Amino acid sequence: MKELGTMLELKKMTKMLGDKLVLRNITLSLEKGEILAVIGPNGAGKSTFFKCTVGLLQPTSGEIFLDGELVKKNSSQVKQRIGFLGHESFLYNNLSPLENLKFYGKLYKMKNLERKATELLKEVGLYLFRDMPIRSFSRGMMQRLAIARVLLPDPDILMLDEPHTGLDQEAVSLLNTIIKNKRDSGTSILIISHDFEQVHALADRVAVLRKGKIVSTRSLGEGVSLAEMKAWYEAEVKSS
Ligand SMILES: Nc1ncnc2c1ncn2[C@@H]1O[C@H](COP(=O)(O)OP(=O)(O)OP(=O)(O)O)[C@@H](O)[C@H]1O
Ligand SMILES: [Mg+2]
Repeated sequence: MKELGTMLELKKMTKMLGDKLVLRNITLSLEKGEILAVIGPNGAGKSTFFKCTVGLLQPTSGEIFLDGELVKKNSSQVKQRIGFLGHESFLYNNLSPLENLKFYGKLYKMKNLERKATELLKEVGLYLFRDMPIRSFSRGMMQRLAIARVLLPDPDILMLDEPHTGLDQEAVSLLNTIIKNKRDSGTSILIISHDFEQVHALADRVAVLRKGKIVSTRSLGEGVSLAEMKAWYEAEVKSS
């Protein structure tokens, strides 16, 4: 990993939902050209963390810095620079893959839209289906298109909540290749996942979220095995 500076910095972020403190003082940074994975048990607050960071939810307190600049409430700054893939696909069922991508490309006022959309559809393996309404698509095909949609404006940060869900082996390796290529060209990537194997294959660093708190982070250097990573996670989730 190259040392290029910090892309995203969260300082003491908290979130109340109802009367429950779901996120407690989250301080975490994402470096440029880094893949960071956030893992944790069901209900730990991962999706809430994700939504607060991408601007789908307003944090109750705390600050977010994007490339050194404080992100203001309802800022469009974040939306333009972060590409996020959550549980919703934000795709239109009556449109084809190509039409969906063109729809978003126009919103982003993209140049060379047709070429970029076509390239992406080839990359995610949907080119043959480019003109077919996606209504009849399988879950994995939808996920492939959702990934293409996220990549379309070439965001500086990719935030992916359980991106491997529903993907077959071929699509998993396609996605991992895409993620690694993006990282190598300087994109910062944050992945939320339960899939230890994929986290181990991809992440430069891993953070454990437990009961709304980041309880530990660790770099995954070359030497760290999958078994070692699992053992560390289990110890962190049990303790504190
Ligand atoms: N609207 C809400 N009101 C009150 N509590 C909520 C609300 N939404 C979520 N929560 C609570 O916040 C906590 C964190 O939920 P969240 O969805 O962020 O967890 P998660 O780590 O993504 O879990 P999973 O691994 O199952 O996806 C849970 O205890 C949940 O019950
Ligand atoms: Mg979740």
